[in-house]
Amino acid sequence: MDKYVIRGGNPLVGEVEIGGAKNAALAILTAAIMTDETVVVDNIPDVSDINVLLEAISVIGATVDRVDRHTVRINGSTIGSVSVDYEFIKKIRASYYLLGALLGKYKRAEVPLPGGCNIGSRPIDLHLKGFRALGATVTIRNGVIYASADDLHGAHIFLDTVSVGATINIMMAAAMAQGKTVIENAAREPHVVDAANFLNSMGANIKGAGTDVIRVRGVESLHRTSYTVVPDMIEAGTFMFAAAATRGDILMKNVIPKHLEAMTAKLVEIGCQVEEFDDAVRISAKSRLGKTHVKTLPYPGFPTDMQPQIGVALCLARGTSIVTESIFENRFKYVDELARMGATIKVEGNTAIIDGTETLTGARISAPDLRAGAALVIAGLAAEGVTVIDDIVYILRGYEDFDKKLRDLGAEIELVSDEREVQKFRLRTG
Ligand code: EPZ
Repeated sequence: MDKYVIRGGNPLVGEVEIGGAKNAALAILTAAIMTDETVVVDNIPDVSDINVLLEAISVIGATVDRVDRHTVRINGSTIGSVSVDYEFIKKIRASYYLLGALLGKYKRAEVPLPGGCNIGSRPIDLHLKGFRALGATVTIRNGVIYASADDLHGAHIFLDTVSVGATINIMMAAAMAQGKTVIENAAREPHVVDAANFLNSMGANIKGAGTDVIRVRGVESLHRTSYTVVPDMIEAGTFMFAAAATRGDILMKNVIPKHLEAMTAKLVEIGCQVEEFDDAVRISAKSRLGKTHVKTLPYPGFPTDMQPQIGVALCLARGTSIVTESIFENRFKYVDELARMGATIKVEGNTAIIDGTETLTGARISAPDLRAGAALVIAGLAAEGVTVIDDIVYILRGYEDFDKKLRDLGAEIELVSDEREVQKFRLRTG
């Protein structure tokens, strides 16, 4: 089984190129099947979640052509089935987007209930409520969601909770419904805006994405387009906190600084220097970090996908910090692993109380999910000695060339597949 082995202690220094946003690309690649014309999508990250989704799309009959590592050409005219195989769905949460895309285009979809990272209960009731409001009949039998409609019609939909997935999914189905849909209390994340921009580039009529009211006027059909996915704010944020935790100095290229503001504000608060350019951000940390309090919130608040990474940085800060997770109830699973590295953290309900320590020490740990796994890599980079991280399959779901990008910044990290290689790494770097 693949693992990362890390000898910590080097400050990360240099430049890193940030890839396309995984969570935007998952929505966009699914929406691409809604036209019978050819769509080209660029700046997609080469990560396993994307590759599984592309496989699922091709298994229902779409023509998927990988033009190069970051570019895909998709043609949905060859789709022969609206029934998606469980094999793919159990691996990725975003498979739920196939419901909105297939329902919008064919007025029928059969998609197994999704899998994905185990970070909480993750219901999809709001997605289904939205489809029903648009006129679809939705039932769940034997683990499969069946949605169908004679005609989809516009509706006024209020989302009880701000949900990225429900907003995008309803937007996709509504793009090809008859008449006008209004989605209230919509999510405002950059990937919602990117999915709306993509659909509009295919001829959809969506207004207000990026605010909490989205208005969609349905169209009969969608057409060909070429589109470039927005940069990944979570990958960028992960490198920012890696720089902070290792007291490094990194220039992140190909980012939208505005999307990083919640992270930037916290980094400045804990004593880092952050400089913004048009499409780059430089972060440096010259001295020991300071404490802070942080609560995860929907965009533009501090992202839940960055909670473990800031948690790790605060383990090394001076003083006591408080981290509150308000989106997913199961996102503190990294805490037990960090305790093995010498961190002092107590979790009470949805709050972690972190007493900062001067140093962490390397240990054998496991990645519990994608972002927690990335955070543990940061811990390993900042720790004294060798850290071995098992179960990195989670990390590979969302970070392209993570180890290589970190090595280019001066980290001693390798992806290895067995114990002998771990021993060799210890000898070589010791
Ligand atoms: C998306 O998940 C992302 N996944 C997640 O990223 C991210 O953590 C999350 O948004 C929040 O930003 C993808 O884009 C594929 P939500 P999603 O619906 O859409 C509740 C990562 O690491 N809710 O915005 O599934 C839900 O329980 C992943 O890249 C309902 O109650 O999240 C949560 O408390 C992990 N009913 C809140 O809303 C619903 O029908 C927000 O969830 C839907 C959601």
